[in-house]
Amino acid sequence: MTVRIGFIGTGGIAVAHLHRLLQVEKAEVVALCDLAPGRSEQAEKDVNAVVRERDPRARTLAAAHYTDYTEMLRREKLDAVFVCLPPFAHGEPERAVIEAGAHLFVEKPVALDLGTAMDILRRLDEQNLLSAVGYQLRYLRSMDRAKELLAGTTVGMAVVMRFGGTPGVPWYRIQSKSGGQLVEMATHHVDQLRYLLGEVRTVYAAAATRIHHLRQPDYDVFDVNCMTLTFASGVVANFANNMISSHGVPQSARGVHIFCDGMTLSHQLGGPLQVLTKDGLEEVPDGVDPMLEQDRAFVQAVAEGRRELIRADYREGIRTLAVTLAGDLSARTGQPVEVEGLLRQAGWEG
Ligand SMILES: NC(=O)c1ccc[n+]([C@@H]2O[C@H](COP(=O)([O-])OP(=O)(O)OC[C@H]3O[C@@H](n4cnc5c(N)ncnc54)[C@H](O)[C@@H]3O)[C@@H](O)[C@H]2O)c1
Repeated sequence: MTVRIGFIGTGGIAVAHLHRLLQVEKAEVVALCDLAPGRSEQAEKDVNAVVRERDPRARTLAAAHYTDYTEMLRREKLDAVFVCLPPFAHGEPERAVIEAGAHLFVEKPVALDLGTAMDILRRLDEQNLLSAVGYQLRYLRSMDRAKELLAGTTVGMAVVMRFGGTPGVPWYRIQSKSGGQLVEMATHHVDQLRYLLGEVRTVYAAAATRIHHLRQPDYDVFDVNCMTLTFASGVVANFANNMISSHGVPQSARGVHIFCDGMTLSHQLGGPLQVLTKDGLEEVPDGVDPMLEQDRAFVQAVAEGRRELIRADYREGIRTLAVTLAGDLSARTGQPVEVEGLLRQAGWEG
């Protein structure tokens, strides 16, 4: 079965997915929608130009174009929709996709608040639709190996360091639009920790806006953050992030490090998993494009009705969102926040 796909939002991340979906045989992107007139046409042109440059005979895009997703959903018969919107725009688009009976791929974070996300989950469940969230790190081969290794040991603690700049999209620096660095970006590593180490119990965070507001008065997200996490297993973790280091940071101040009984695992984006034991260093390469693997898994899951191929579904997206919201709340109140408590307040039933 060919999976007929539409897109809502055709900015930066949508273009990345479009490139991948052209490589997935069963995927057929038939419709693109962006609120900004001309943007979806431009996205298609840009993707096709790159594809043709690489291989003039390769498959290219030839989608129908829309500026109103309700019109796209009414006119097109879609099996699945990729929602690639800024965080503040979630809610109505997903409800419309579900009402149209299409399976949902949504970019992280799934929403800015748990109430909206919980409502969407309930509707997905009622319609028995598949969902996937863009936490592509789960599809790395090196994470498969890390999971195997962690299953055979006791983990003591983890340390995450993620330092960089503020992404260029205009909505990022506005708290009410992006949700800030924890919700928007650190979410990838929070999800990676959850995937490897299980559920987070409490979050205690400190954060501040130290640099960017000095030159950009409308910059109201935290640009430095530190979190201490405890896990249901008893593992503890330290998580440091900033958006003030676009000039660069040393390699030694990056990555996810997990300290276990007789073993240390270290992973940096784009690099191999490093496994240190008393016998020395083993390196496990990533070996795959994780976004391609993720998109392929979603398309195959839709085509064959195989839910188990999806490693991060909407429910997982909500759990990761809850940890990052707990971090944001803790930084604002100065108090530790219990993640299950936040979820229960929003009506979570597991
Ligand atoms: N998984 C990843 O590694 C990864 C990487 C980058 C971005 N993202 C996520 O993807 C999401 C989008 O990021 P981006 O960088 O593509 O943003 P972007 O600003 O480049 O693109 C968003 C697009 O959505 C359009 N849009 C907004 N409201 C709309 C509506 N109601 N209907 C139709 N179109 C609408 C905008 O016009 C814009 O073109 C963010 O949540 C971001 O966190 C994920």
